[in-house]
Amino acid sequence: MCGIVAAVTQRNITNFLVEGIKKLEYRGYDSSGLAIIDYKNNIIRIRCVGKVNELIKKVYKKKILGNIGMAHTRWATHGKVSKANTHPHISSNIIVVHNGIIENSSILRLFLQKKGYIFYSDTDTEVIAHLLHWEQNKKKDPLKKTIQNSIEKLYGNYSMVVIDKNNPSRLIAVRSRSPLVIGLGLEENFIASDQIALLNITKRFIYLEEGDIAVVTRKRIDIFNKNSTITKRKEIISNTEYKSVKKGKYRHFMEKEIYEQPESIRKTLENRLKNNSKIYFSELGLKENNLFYHAEHIQIVACGTSYNAAMVSRYWFESLANIPCDVEIASEFSSRKLALRKKSLLITLSQSGETADTLSALRCSKNLGYLGNLTICNMESSSLVKESDCCILTKAGLEIGVASTKSFTTQLTVLLMLIAKIINVKKEKNNISNKIIQTLNILPTRIEEILKKNELIKNLANKISHKKNILFLGRGDTYPIAIEGALKLKEISYIHAEAYPAGELKHGPLALIDQNIPIIIIAPKNSLLNKIKKNIKEISLRGGITYVFSDQEFDYEENMNVIKMPYVEELIAPIFYIIPLQLLAYYVALSKGRDIDQPRHLAKSVTVE
Ligand code: G6P
Repeated sequence: MCGIVAAVTQRNITNFLVEGIKKLEYRGYDSSGLAIIDYKNNIIRIRCVGKVNELIKKVYKKKILGNIGMAHTRWATHGKVSKANTHPHISSNIIVVHNGIIENSSILRLFLQKKGYIFYSDTDTEVIAHLLHWEQNKKKDPLKKTIQNSIEKLYGNYSMVVIDKNNPSRLIAVRSRSPLVIGLGLEENFIASDQIALLNITKRFIYLEEGDIAVVTRKRIDIFNKNSTITKRKEIISNTEYKSVKKGKYRHFMEKEIYEQPESIRKTLENRLKNNSKIYFSELGLKENNLFYHAEHIQIVACGTSYNAAMVSRYWFESLANIPCDVEIASEFSSRKLALRKKSLLITLSQSGETADTLSALRCSKNLGYLGNLTICNMESSSLVKESDCCILTKAGLEIGVASTKSFTTQLTVLLMLIAKIINVKKEKNNISNKIIQTLNILPTRIEEILKKNELIKNLANKISHKKNILFLGRGDTYPIAIEGALKLKEISYIHAEAYPAGELKHGPLALIDQNIPIIIIAPKNSLLNKIKKNIKEISLRGGITYVFSDQEFDYEENMNVIKMPYVEELIAPIFYIIPLQLLAYYVALSKGRDIDQPRHLAKSVTVE
């Protein structure tokens, strides 16, 4: 799970490599490195532990001149975080960067050690480098043929880029279940794990497909498919704006992305609410309508924040559309024997579309007899979109902060639209789908109102930021919001936070209650409010301190603090109430001086299972 950039250029390559790899830090930021073949045909390799900025400082201390090279940012999977384990890895003339996992690397390592290779790292990547070198020297084949022979021996999901110092005019890229994109320039070409790394130099891209090997020089790109046949892949022009990856006036991407939510929801709704009574997704056609018409069950699989969004939608699918819905963590879904529900539609939900567990769940599902599959995704050119029967895009725009914010609320927006769409297609309960559409129209304005309450949330953050444990409670469709609120806090402030359905308190968590554990409660006006009030009383009677987010008035209970929220329609309350919890996590992490956009040990896109 790492980021790769590589290039063969007509100008000096150093700036491009460091700027490109900086943009891929969201894929991992334990350590980073680069290797360039300089004008005297020496391999110059610079590596260091820590963020890409550390690498940049080191690189700019040297004057490196070269036209071909590669860079890598790492999220450790094989071998601890250390300079020796940082990519690129070298075996004599072969230089490799790699993303993913080689599952049989221990066996190959032993084999190569017996052949006399000395390993300087614990990584599976160094195994690839030595294997390529061994194969190349055994048969004296050209590098592409050597790579073809070697990858037959590698098991796992990975992508890699290789340079041979003895032929320093070409890059060779391999895609095996982990994405790689080629950026096309004028007499220069680029490779990256994600187009975001290349957007400031080109808009023209070719996405490699499963099993492709690409030989890339300054003037030529030859792509061979998994049967080793030369093949043409479509060139696309990206319409992603480069400026959307800058922080602008904000201190952190996460802060920017929280404040962008009204706008990203507007974009998600744009051109999709037809005459205010029908939902129109340009991505879908009649075939998909047919799929929705026949669906009698919805199975959603997702990870992290996307899973929490799916959990909210479960309440909606069942209460609004009367369709049974199950939600499962993707890694669990693909690791157990499932009993398939009748006429079930599989939905994968993902911001990146590259989460390995979710992709693997989709791939597993294909032989199980689902009616079909749909992905709801933010990244149009992602593997999930490519491998699914159909997709709906969330249109959140690029999200850089590791802790997801605007992708969560746009996912919920799409899920509500999808429910209205399914109701339309099934020609049932038009009044409900009309109500969904009307309410969604108001949502961005409601979120703007809550964002103005940031001072209130800052005050609360100051009160709780020194705490070691925090409990979040919700009921009904705000229970998953409590889970998401706890996840946000945990991820970026490193405070232990747990969420419970408020009704479950008496079955265990009440034992935790004392003056030291703040309890955050989400209590909007709905049919469950009186039950939540009872739960608050139970906590107060036992000396617990509560912070209640609500638009309602409450009778005074000891140690109860109400954080007064603006009015919101019940239907969209879950989307609305996550906003103050995102802000709370943000301000707590800010006051603790945490690395908000890149919390320790995490990554935005988890491309390993
Ligand atoms: C990682 C990220 C989370 C994200 C999860 C699922 O854990 O840190 O923010 O929610 O992956 O990612 P996806 O791209 O599939 O939504």
